[in-house]
Amino acid sequence: MTLPVHTAEATPTRPTTGPTTARAQLLNDRTVDDYRRSVTAGTERVARRLAEVTGPFTGVRPDELAPLVDAIDLDRPLGDTTAALDELDRVYLRDAVWFHHPRYLAHLNCPVVIPALLGEAVLSAVNSSMDTWDQSAGGTLIERRLIDWTAARIGLGPAADGVFTSGGTQSNLHALLLAREEALAGATPTDRRVLLPRLRIIASAAGHFSVQKAAKLLGLAPDAVVVVETGPDRRMRPGAVRHEIARCRRDGLPVAAVVATAGTTDFGTIDPLDEIADVCATAGVWLHVDAAYGCGLLVSPTRRHLLDGIERADSVTVDYHKSFFQPVSSSAVVVRDGRTLRHATWHADYLNPARMVAQRIPNQVDKSLQTTRRFDALKLWLTLRVMGPDAVGELFDEVCDRAAQAWDLVAADPRFEVLTRSSLSTVVFRWRPTGPGRELADAANLHAREALAASGLGVVAGTRVDGRQYLKFTVLNPATTREDIGYVLDLIAEHAGRYVHTHAASPAADLTCPVG
Ligand SMILES: Cc1ncc(COP(=O)(O)O)c(C=O)c1O
Repeated sequence: MTLPVHTAEATPTRPTTGPTTARAQLLNDRTVDDYRRSVTAGTERVARRLAEVTGPFTGVRPDELAPLVDAIDLDRPLGDTTAALDELDRVYLRDAVWFHHPRYLAHLNCPVVIPALLGEAVLSAVNSSMDTWDQSAGGTLIERRLIDWTAARIGLGPAADGVFTSGGTQSNLHALLLAREEALAGATPTDRRVLLPRLRIIASAAGHFSVQKAAKLLGLAPDAVVVVETGPDRRMRPGAVRHEIARCRRDGLPVAAVVATAGTTDFGTIDPLDEIADVCATAGVWLHVDAAYGCGLLVSPTRRHLLDGIERADSVTVDYHKSFFQPVSSSAVVVRDGRTLRHATWHADYLNPARMVAQRIPNQVDKSLQTTRRFDALKLWLTLRVMGPDAVGELFDEVCDRAAQAWDLVAADPRFEVLTRSSLSTVVFRWRPTGPGRELADAANLHAREALAASGLGVVAGTRVDGRQYLKFTVLNPATTREDIGYVLDLIAEHAGRYVHTHAASPAADLTCPVG
């Protein structure tokens, strides 16, 4: 049989010339020059903006930006890349929040490494889908190698397996689904109905809210997550975990999982993993370690020991898009016993029929909650192939060092009080008024955060601890200096001081404190 040869002549008749025809916008063998030009133009715009930005944010307000976005008629295309990029510049790039800027100190967003951006460009153009081998081929093998590599770094042993996910929230949901199914193993449908509302998950008060969300999505009871208060070091206390497991069992409530955190969102603290693993092993309870933030330590040349005990987990969440300097999304759930991933398996005749398992065709959809799925693993692959793990770990070490310096700076500054020293790269602190108006401290800190962002000179996060308003630095940029931190602290003190000065006379201070 002769296969048809794909040539320009052989392709049927619709008009294919001219940049505005629909066919000309499809990426294929005949449009590669436009593809190059278009993507280069986009890269050039971003590069120009990156080179120009003087602050992490312009401070634009939603009511200023929304009319520009709303005014765009999506049914009237511009028909031209340059015009579309000009428009995009006005509605997005000009006022974007830039995580690469050294005074972006707010959330768990990292500046990204260039090899990962290269991966992003390649993966979206090739557009592999990771559900089945017949939609990804080598992509599947690359993702599997990275899962094996991550599992080996964790130390999970030869039966480990896992899959890339969209983020820590999904990884935690996935892990807890497996834990739920293991807890219900062998139950009849009737038993399941009885047991499901009784299942409990033990988590830390400093853990991530996605655990609560997961419990809800998994059909557990509204009070299924038993929250264990932390000690003054903001770490889960193994004794408290043991106590809660015993109490649940006394009350006839089976414990499906204990969730420990390696890198709490606010405090960057790491739960005593080894001791909690002891408790779980004795009780026969699934241990999930949420290392969404702390996973960067897996490649740290100096701090890997902080994760000791993680190798005893049944499942681990790792967010490469937090501490491996990867663009969103890049995350994985990794499990000690790969067989448990079967709890997320469904065989569809059109996609991954069961016979393919016997044929040893590697279909990642058998392990994933998603069907069509991006080849996000390529970003990490190119990062490791270009830079290597040590280089990534050195970057993460640098931000941990910088955060430690920031903590020292805040602790030595009488204008501020600071909470628990982080094992990773956060600093939780608050401005403290000394004179009259002390009762305005919460509102003043809240105001300072908003006024700082509105000024565009810095962005910090806020959080509440023990009912009081705090501010938070999350340092994830090695380019952030002590001077940047000092400058931002001065700005915060200035905004907060001015707020108290203005409002001290007014007894009904407005706690929503509009920026002004
Ligand atoms: C400890 C922890 N777990 C999970 C998550 C959720 O991760 P994602 O935002 O990637 O869904 C976060 C996010 O900040 C986190 O800090």
